[in-house]
This record gives sequence, C-alpha cells and structure tokens, in this order.
Amino acid sequence: MIIAAIVAGGSGSRMGTELPKQFMELEGVPVIVRTVRAFLSHSSVDAAIIGINPSYYDYARTLPGLYDQDGRVHITMGGPDRNSTIENIIGYAISHLGCTDQDVVLSHDAVRPFVSPRMISDSISAMETCEICTTAIPETDTVAVADKALNVSSFPDRSTLYRVQTPQTFRIGSFLKVWTPLTPAEKARATDVCSLYRQCGYNIRLIQGELTNIKLTYPEDVSFAQAIIHKAELCQ
Ligand code: CTP
Repeated sequence: MIIAAIVAGGSGSRMGTELPKQFMELEGVPVIVRTVRAFLSHSSVDAAIIGINPSYYDYARTLPGLYDQDGRVHITMGGPDRNSTIENIIGYAISHLGCTDQDVVLSHDAVRPFVSPRMISDSISAMETCEICTTAIPETDTVAVADKALNVSSFPDRSTLYRVQTPQTFRIGSFLKVWTPLTPAEKARATDVCSLYRQCGYNIRLIQGELTNIKLTYPEDVSFAQAIIHKAELCQ
C-alpha cells in the first residue's frame, strides 16, 4: 500500500490565526482539504491518514470536504511533536488498514497544500532504489553559521546546501527500526525524520522539490499561497 501520512497535529502559533493554520481557508477551501485532495487525486496513493491536533479532532471530523466518498481518508490523533504524529499515523495504518513493513508512507505537512503530482510520483518511484527520500530545493541565499552571540564562524559552500521540504518517503519497517529504540527523551529531542535515518547510517535521497511547495508558517505566506492558486486557475 502507499499511504499519505498528513501531519496536522500542530498549533500554528506563528501564523496567529484563531484556528490552527491547517484549517484556515485559502480562497474558500481549508488548507488541509487542499492537501488531502492533492494526494488522493494521485492514482498511486491508496489512502490518506491525518494525524490531527487532539483539541481539533471533532472539528476535523465534521469539516466539509475532508472525507471523500470512497473511504480513503482516515483521522487519528496527532502527537506532542511532529515525529510522534507520524508514529501515531503509522500505528493507525498497521492496526486499522493492515499495513506491514513493506508498505510505503509519504509523510507530508498538512500546511503544504501545493505538493505536485510529479513530486508524489518521484517520491514513490525512488522507493524502488532507496530506503528514504525527501523533497528539497537548492538553497538560494548565502547561509552563515553563527554562535549564540551572533558571531559568524563560517559560510558553508552554497552549492552543497538544500532546503528540505515534504513529502519525506520511507517504508513502515525502516521507520519502526529507527524510531522504536529511541528513549522518550530522544524522541522528544528528535527533529526531522530524515536526520534520524541519517544518524542510523541510512543514505537519504533528494527528490527535486518546488518553490511553490511552501509551508504556510507566517501570515506573510498567505498572500503567496493566494497568488499560487490564482496563477493555477489562470493556467486551467
Ligand atoms: N505537526 C504535527 N504534530 C505536532 C507539531 C506539528 O503534526 N505536534 C505538524 C503541523 O501540523 C504541520 C507540520 O507538522 O503540518 C509542520 O509544523 P510547523 O508548521 O513547523 O509547526 P506548528 O506547530 O503547526 O506551527 P508553530 O510552530 O508556528 O506553532
């Protein structure tokens, strides 16, 4: 099976909206509905499992447009951090959908509604030859490394730097191998899933991301998102 694991357990404090940003409407359609539809309109994706912020579980269950008609959308509880939300989604996939180690998970931020069919296809294809891949785009700014007192120690060579996006794709078996041995403190400290795989020695493949695959984080991102939608409408 190929599962879209939509992580929506966050609170969106930097966006500052009344409802967490995954429920914010963009041109009349909630962000999370856009994201789920993007995955389910891909012919290779069997199901989408959403890990929702527990305070908004009931809200999500009644959100118009979130459940499609053929039962491919599932909702479970998000965890206290992003990786725990992925853990919960994988637990749901195993217990409710009968998924096993070989099944593929595309983990994706609910607040990246502009994931493209090409990114999904490339991520799935990569699973034939690697254990984990992530979408990313080349860094375009010069990046400085500085200490807490803001003294710069180096400027890494930009040609080696990428900005990591989602989807991040892996099989259930390898995720459990990487995640399960961690202590609760290590789990709480863990950042990105890819960095966990890297610490365990896995090779991580980069898939070409897209500039429009933005993560809605700050209020300033909303006008960019609206512009992306308008441009897409003009191209139809
Ligand atoms: N996420 C999650 N579970 C958490 C925290 C975050 O599933 N416990 C999800 C968010 O819902 C989002 C993605 O991870 O889709 C990226 O989160 P990010 O925007 O960095 O964090 P938020 O908590 O949503 O926002 P903020 O940091 O501004 O509070």
